[in-house]
Amino acid sequence: MDFALTQEHELIREMAYKFGQNEVLPGLAERDREHTSDATMLEKMAEAGILGMSIPEKFHGSNTDYISLGIVCEELERADTTARVVMSVHSGLHCMTILQWGTDEQKERWLPALAKGDRWGAFGLTEPNAGSDASSLRTTATKDGDSYILNGEKTWISLADYAHQFLVIARLANSDLKSPFAAFIVDRNTPGFSSRAIKGKLGVRAGNTGQIFFENMRVPAENMLGEEGDGFKVAMSALDHGRYTVAAGAVGIITACLDASVKYANDRTVQGEAIGKKQLVQQMIASMARGRDIGRLLYYQVGWMKNVGLRHTREVSMAKWTNCEAAFDAANKAVEIHGAYGFSDEFPVERYFRNSRGAMIYEGTHEIHTIMQGEYALGYRSDKPIARNLPTYPFE
Ligand code: CAA
Repeated sequence: MDFALTQEHELIREMAYKFGQNEVLPGLAERDREHTSDATMLEKMAEAGILGMSIPEKFHGSNTDYISLGIVCEELERADTTARVVMSVHSGLHCMTILQWGTDEQKERWLPALAKGDRWGAFGLTEPNAGSDASSLRTTATKDGDSYILNGEKTWISLADYAHQFLVIARLANSDLKSPFAAFIVDRNTPGFSSRAIKGKLGVRAGNTGQIFFENMRVPAENMLGEEGDGFKVAMSALDHGRYTVAAGAVGIITACLDASVKYANDRTVQGEAIGKKQLVQQMIASMARGRDIGRLLYYQVGWMKNVGLRHTREVSMAKWTNCEAAFDAANKAVEIHGAYGFSDEFPVERYFRNSRGAMIYEGTHEIHTIMQGEYALGYRSDKPIARNLPTYPFE
C-alpha cells in the first residue's frame, strides 16, 4: 500500500489552488450576492486545461489519473463551490460517462472538443417529480426511424444555460424492457430544446442552475450511450463519477473553513488572548482537521479504485456522504468561531455554510446515502462487476 501522492499530483494541486485564488475568487462575493454567474470562468478553466482532466491524451485530454481529478475538485472548491460544480457536471457526470460508456466512434466524436473546453457538457436526470426516486422519471423517448423523439423536462441542471450538450436519461415509450430507460447525448442547438435559469437558491448563487425542456426534440439514434435498457445504469455510473467530484470538493470546503477559522482564531482576542487558546475553539478546529484528513483518505481511495478499474459505488457513496456531512459541520463551526462576523458576508464562512448545505442534497441526499450504506452493511445491497468500466490508468 502506498499513500504517497506523486510530484505531478502536487503540481496539479498547486495549479488548481492558484487558479481558484486568481480566477475564481475575484468578484465572487459580488456575484454571489447578486446571484449572477460568470461564463468567463468556464472559458478560463478551458484555457488552463482543467476541463480535460483525466481524459486520455488521444482524446486531447490532460492524460492525468483519476486522483488528479479529485485534487482539482478539492482545490477549486476551496475557492468556491461554483468552480467545482463545473467539474462535477462537465468532467464527472458528462465526460467520464462518455469515457465509460461511449463506443470508440462516440468517444472520438465528443471527447476532444469537451477535453479542450471548446464545448461544455452537463447532465439531465432529475425531474420535478423524480429526484431520489430516479427511476420514476417521465421524460419520454419515442423511436421514430433512425432517431428518437424526446419530450419532457429536467430540473436542477447545473450549466443549464451554458452547456453545449447534455447527457439526458429518458423513458423509452412503448417498451417492455425490465428497465425501460435510455441515455442520450443531446445538443442544445436541437429544435425543441430550451432552458430557463432557477433563481432564489440558498447557495451556489454564483453558479448557473436551471431547467431544460424538450418538445418533440429529435435525437439521432447514434447519440445513444449504451443500448436501449442501459439508461438507468448509465445514470448510476455517471453518479459514481459525479459523487467522486463532490466528495473531493467537500474536502476543499473544509480546508477553506480551516484557513478562515485558524486566521480568525489567531487574530481575534478575548480577555487578552487569542480565541485560538480557548479549548472550545480548539475543539472545533480539531474537528475540522479530522474531517479534512478522513475526507482525503476516502476520496483518494475512490480515485485509486477508478485508476485500477474496480467498481466503487459503495465506496463513493460513503465518501460523498461522509465528506459532505463533514463539510457542513465544518462550515457551521466556522460560523460559530466567527461569531457575529460569521453571520455576515463580510467574511466567506457564511457562503461556505450555504454552499455546503446543497451538497447534502444533490448527487444523492443524505438519506439516500444513509440507506445505501445500511443496505450494504446488512447484506441487502452488493455491487457486482459491471460490463463497462472507465479505462484503467495509465491509459493505453
Ligand atoms: N454502475 C453501473 N450499474 C449500476 C450502478 C452503477 N453505479 N448502480 C446500479 N447499477 C445497476 C444495478 O447493478 C442494477 O442492475 P441489474 O438490474 O442488472 O442488477 C440496476 O442498475 C438497478 O440498480 P439498483 O437495484 O441499485 O437500483 P435501485 O432502484 O435500488 O436504486 C437508488 C435506488 C440507489 C436510491 C437510486 O435511485 C439513486 O441513487 N437515487 C439517487 C439519485 C440521485 O443521486 N440523484 C441526483 C441527481 S443528479 C444531480 O444531483 C446532479 C446535479 O444536480 C449537479
